[in-house]
Amino acid sequence: MQPWRRKFPLFETGVTMKQRKNSNLSIFVVVFSVFLFGIFMYNEDVKSIAEFPFSTSKPSNDVHEEVTKPITTTEITTTTTTTTLPVQESIKTSDNPTVQDSVGNADPIQEPVKNADPDQDSADPVQEEGTKTEEAKKIELFSVTEDEEDVELPPEECDLFTGEWVFDNETHPLYKEDQCEFLTAQVTCMRNGRRDSLYQNWRWQPRDCSLPKFKAKLLLEKLRNKRMMFVGDSLNRNQWESMVCLVQSVVPPGRKSLNKTGSLSVFRVEDYNATVEFYWAPFLVESNSDDPNMHSILNRIIMPESIEKHGVNWKGVDFLVFNTYIWWMNTFAMKVLRGSFDKGDTEYEEIERPVAYRRVMRTWGDWVERNIDPLRTTVFFASMSPLHIKSLDWENPDGIKCALETTPILNMSMPFSVGTDYRLFSVAENVTHSLKVPVYFLNITKLSEYRKDAHTSVHTIRQGKMLTPEQQADPNTYADCIHWCLPGLPDTWNEFLYTRIISRS
Ligand SMILES: *[C@@H]1O[C@H](CO)[C@@H](O)[C@H](O)[C@H]1NC(C)=O
Ligand SMILES: *[C@@H]1O[C@H](CO)[C@@H](O)[C@H](O)[C@H]1NC(C)=O
Ligand SMILES: *[C@@H]1O[C@H](CO)[C@@H](O)[C@H](O)[C@H]1NC(C)=O
Ligand SMILES: *[C@@H]1O[C@H](CO)[C@@H](O)[C@H](O)[C@H]1NC(C)=O
Ligand SMILES: *[C@@H]1O[C@H](CO)[C@@H](O)[C@H](O)[C@H]1NC(C)=O
Ligand SMILES: *[C@@H]1O[C@H](CO)[C@@H](O)[C@H](O)[C@H]1NC(C)=O
Repeated sequence: MQPWRRKFPLFETGVTMKQRKNSNLSIFVVVFSVFLFGIFMYNEDVKSIAEFPFSTSKPSNDVHEEVTKPITTTEITTTTTTTTLPVQESIKTSDNPTVQDSVGNADPIQEPVKNADPDQDSADPVQEEGTKTEEAKKIELFSVTEDEEDVELPPEECDLFTGEWVFDNETHPLYKEDQCEFLTAQVTCMRNGRRDSLYQNWRWQPRDCSLPKFKAKLLLEKLRNKRMMFVGDSLNRNQWESMVCLVQSVVPPGRKSLNKTGSLSVFRVEDYNATVEFYWAPFLVESNSDDPNMHSILNRIIMPESIEKHGVNWKGVDFLVFNTYIWWMNTFAMKVLRGSFDKGDTEYEEIERPVAYRRVMRTWGDWVERNIDPLRTTVFFASMSPLHIKSLDWENPDGIKCALETTPILNMSMPFSVGTDYRLFSVAENVTHSLKVPVYFLNITKLSEYRKDAHTSVHTIRQGKMLTPEQQADPNTYADCIHWCLPGLPDTWNEFLYTRIISRS
């Protein structure tokens, strides 16, 4: 596949000027780093370190959750008002970066749906053939600027999401945990006491091509005078924090800021007039869990056809990245409001999860069709971020949820399932691909399923507070096997975003 690679020299002003001085050095670095691509040793023996003396007999509640067992049938039939719902955490101020929200209790799907694997050969309608000639022109025009460090773009038709994790401590992590002041305590695993750090060193290697080297300045050039917004739940916020760190490294102090107001958090880069934003909407549509601060509601109720209230905040944004998944996972059925929250209605009906999910995705798709100008805005939809709550899922009888894992699942021929609801995956894939507005489907689910080592586990906060040593010693109860450490896996999700963004424009 190498012959298909295209070269795309950096020619943005600013980047060019600063790099010219170092041109010879840059070339040297490129050449030298090629030689540094060696084979690294890693310790695949997960079991040898799985000797913590913790009991595994407790029922598994995931962190951030009080016990959120599926509501029983008798509870379901009663009508409940939203105002009396138990709120599991309250967050002090919207400026408090250490706030964490609850996510869906990882109630595993007992019987992962078979045959729900998406059509692997389905063409990605987002891909456009016409751009190739333009790229070719650029190559001709700029191939003479050899004093610049080139960024090699993968061919558009390359499936970036099929590949493998390779240990690469030369290029990863892409930033240092203690050099990103914007990381919240939820994700700073090393600072929170995690001792192994190899989870930061894995690079995703697509099978048929390579991801381009990450260059923050190149991305910022693409974001100049633009807005990028992540819309969704705490996993999307996880990815947003990663993106903030990825770009902020090249921005001097005082030229960047973070403003959290209500549902919207805005990271701003002054010199580029660019923003990287996060908007809280865990179901995308209206729900009783939309309060950005007090949203840990057991009895989650949605209005699958109502999206305008949130949607007005997404209009005019240049890069939109959506997701919704984890909040669907604590019950088998989804509660759908009869009427409107505004009118004080409280009655709901219960609908099978995939059916309700499809209604939401359709509503979202309609919104995209009505409000997105594809010439201006690029739309992404991130597939589900998986959980790792049963170590037997990856055949580690000595594990405790994800807590003892220090390497990814590396045996690519070992079949495993971590309970991902692939029915929702198919719905999301189908809906995103059925729209007239191109939506780039970030197919991160399977590749993230290998990353049992990458969760925050007990090195995180709970209800705004760091886990106590006692809690940390009880991963069975307190390990968070939903969210991810940073630097870490979400950086890779953003490398896909980066690749797409620098490839088109
Ligand atoms: C998503 O990626 C996985 C590999 O990570 C692949 O097996 C699957 O076919 C892909 N699905 C889609 C819809 O692209
Ligand atoms: C990278 O990993 C190799 C093999 O584990 C090790 O020898 C080397 O010191 C590491 N390099 C860095 C920069 O951590
Ligand atoms: C700054 O960016 C915003 C979009 O985020 C844009 O509307 C505005 O025109 C930009 N300002 C300048 C001076 O280009
Ligand atoms: C943060 O954003 C809000 C809403 O846009 C604005 O009212 C407030 O002045 C901003 N705060 C700072 C410190 O910029
Ligand atoms: C990988 O998994 C396959 C299927 O479970 C198994 O047969 C094989 O022995 C495993 N390989 C290693 C190196 O563990
Ligand atoms: C998705 O589309 C494929 C092909 O059109 C179809 O076979 C499959 O049943 C659809 N899945 C869902 C969940 O709609």
